[in-house]
Amino acid sequence: AFICGILCVIIHGVIGRSWAMLFASGGFQVKLYDIEQQQIRNALENIRKEMKLLEQAGSLKGSLSVEEQLSLISGCPNIQEAVEGAMHIQECVPEDLELKKKIFAQLDSIIDDRVILSSSTSCLMPSKLFAGLVHVKQCIVAHPVNPPYYIPLVELVPHPETAPTTVDRTHALMKKIGQCPMRVQKEVAGFVLNRLQYAIISEAWRLVEEGIVSPSDLDLVMSEGLGMRYAFIGPLETMHLNAEGMLSYCDRYSEGIKHVLQTFGPIPEFSRATAEKVNQDMCMKVPDDPEHLAARRQWRDECLMRLAKLKSQVQPQ
Ligand code: NAI
Repeated sequence: AFICGILCVIIHGVIGRSWAMLFASGGFQVKLYDIEQQQIRNALENIRKEMKLLEQAGSLKGSLSVEEQLSLISGCPNIQEAVEGAMHIQECVPEDLELKKKIFAQLDSIIDDRVILSSSTSCLMPSKLFAGLVHVKQCIVAHPVNPPYYIPLVELVPHPETAPTTVDRTHALMKKIGQCPMRVQKEVAGFVLNRLQYAIISEAWRLVEEGIVSPSDLDLVMSEGLGMRYAFIGPLETMHLNAEGMLSYCDRYSEGIKHVLQTFGPIPEFSRATAEKVNQDMCMKVPDDPEHLAARRQWRDECLMRLAKLKSQVQPQ
């Protein structure tokens, strides 16, 4: 009774595994396909372990039990069988345009007119990915944010020929699995999230390079300052609240903002010398060996899990 439809996740990997868990949490049957059989076996095993841990922490998503969710996910060694009867196919192969195009061409020749073909790509343009496909109207980018189980945003980016119903259906599906979809109206390099992220990285790098702030103090400005509010309200709402509404904010502050913006430098070179300086500072807190990095990522994910809980209490959907 809890099977709402069939989804196919191509292919397992870090992102594929998260999608599988999210779709199962929404009650959807999921078929995992990967070019490497071992990857499918690993994925199923990892998903089982991760779901158990989430259950113990009280953070398992959806209303189904671990066993019910696990029973919805299966591996499939054959791509044709995997997509049979699917309503949504989520591609998650490595970020390589030619590889992705090859897979979409293969899928294009075996799918019907109803299924949605969705790519997890972080930065490949829909117009390049889906060029020349017969089923282009059914194609879309649904870009998640790592780690997708804890960070709900999904950027939906259409190809110029993507049908509006494809966007609407994908939007509805993402909401159904508890994610937070947003629409990028027209494709642009970096989509929206990475454009914002790169603007921040760019100024952070310049400030460190010019000796204005140390790398670890720069990070504090985010984690103890801007990030605190950005977990709840965006930069535009911040403007709206920091004066008597947006118009009054612009009247009061726009000249000052423009004045500061004029002092911004060019695109950083990301020189080896600055990278080493930043790395030295980062390594004092988190040494860059696999164990320390993994432990810190786990801590980050736990923090995000708690933040997600807090957000669900203060912002009921
Ligand atoms: P990954 O390298 O962890 O996993 C890729 C999987 O694809 C592997 O299991 C591999 O065996 C499989 N694969 C390779 N060639 C294949 C083929 N021809 N047919 C079937 N399976 C094949 O990659 P990851 O990090 O999961 O990324 C996947 C996609 O998600 C990329 O497009 C990436 O840009 C996007 N993405 C990644 C994020 C991240 O932080 N890792 C965040 C958001 C999106």
